[in-house]
Amino acid sequence: MDGTLVILGAGRMGEALLKGLLRSGWVTPGQVRCTVRRPEHAQRLAAAFGVRVDTDSVAAAAEADVILVAVKPQDMRALLTEIAPKVHAEQTVVSVAAGVPTTVIERLLGSDVPVVRVMSNVPVQVDEAMSAIAPGRRAEAGHMDVAEQILGHVGKVVHVDERHLDAVTALSGSGPAYVFLLAEAMIDAGILLGLSRDVATQLVVQTMVGSAKMLGDTGRHPVELRESVTSPGGTTISAVRVLEQERVRAAFLNAIEAAKLRAGELAGD
Ligand SMILES: NC(=O)c1ccc[n+]([C@@H]2O[C@H](COP(=O)([O-])OP(=O)(O)OC[C@H]3O[C@@H](n4cnc5c(N)ncnc54)[C@H](OP(=O)(O)O)[C@@H]3O)[C@@H](O)[C@H]2O)c1
Repeated sequence: MDGTLVILGAGRMGEALLKGLLRSGWVTPGQVRCTVRRPEHAQRLAAAFGVRVDTDSVAAAAEADVILVAVKPQDMRALLTEIAPKVHAEQTVVSVAAGVPTTVIERLLGSDVPVVRVMSNVPVQVDEAMSAIAPGRRAEAGHMDVAEQILGHVGKVVHVDERHLDAVTALSGSGPAYVFLLAEAMIDAGILLGLSRDVATQLVVQTMVGSAKMLGDTGRHPVELRESVTSPGGTTISAVRVLEQERVRAAFLNAIEAAKLRAGELAGD
C-alpha cells in the first residue's frame, strides 16, 4: 500500500493482522505504527515485528492514511472520542470490533471519514480467516478495496450489507466454536471406541481439513459430497440415522439463530 497503516489495539486480532500483512509484503515495517494500552506490551511487539509501537493513539491516528481499529468493543467509545479531533475525510477507518455499528463509529469520530466495518474470525491467527466487510455511509469502492486488501492477506473476504453482520457473526464469527465442539465430540467418540487420544485427534483433524478442502475446491453441494460416502446399508447411513434422530440439523439451525439474536441484543446495549 501507499502511506501509513496505523493499528489501534494490536491485541490478538490486531497482532494477527499485523503479522499477516508484514509477511505478505503489503506493508513494510516502516509503514506501520501500532498502539496498545500497556507499555510492556508495546515493547514486546516492537521487538517482535520491528514496527513502531507505543501507547499514543491520538498521535498515531494523526499520521495515518488507514486506521485499523482493533480494540475490544467496550473500549471503542473512549478510543474513538479521544482520536476524533485528528481524524479526517482523507483517511479510511476499518473497524474489526464486533457489534459496533458504523453509525456509532461515524458519530463518535464526528468527521466525514469513511468507515468500513469488518466481522472476521479466529482463524485469522493462521491466515485462514473468513471476513465479511460492510460499508458505512461514506465508504466508497476504494475504501472497501483497502479493507478487502487488508483482510484478504489473512483469509477470504465477502462483501455484505451491514444489516447482515449479526448473521455473519452467528455463522462464521462464532463458527469456529461449533467446529471445535464437533471436533471435541468426535475425538471423544474415538476414545470411546478404544483409540488413543493422539490417534483420534489426528484422524478427526485431518478429516475436517480434507472435508473442508473438498467443499472449497470442488464447489459441490454438501449433500452431494455426503451422499458420495453414504453407501446403501453401510456404516455411514447407520450414523446419519442417529444424527437425524437426535435432531442435530435442527439443533444447528436453532443454535445459530440464537447466536444472531444475541448479537443483535449485544449491539443494542
Ligand atoms: N480475536 C479474534 O479472533 C476476533 C475475531 C473477530 C473480531 N474480533 C474483534 O477484534 C477486537 C479485538 O479483539 P481481541 O481478541 O484482539 O482483543 P485483545 O486481545 O484484548 O486486544 C485488544 C487490544 O487493544 C488494546 N487497547 C485497549 N485500549 C486501547 C486504547 N485506548 N488504545 C490502544 N490500544 C488499546 C489492548 O492493549 P493491551 O494489551 O496493552 O491492554 C489490547 O492489546 C474486538 O473488538 C473483537 O470484537 C476479534
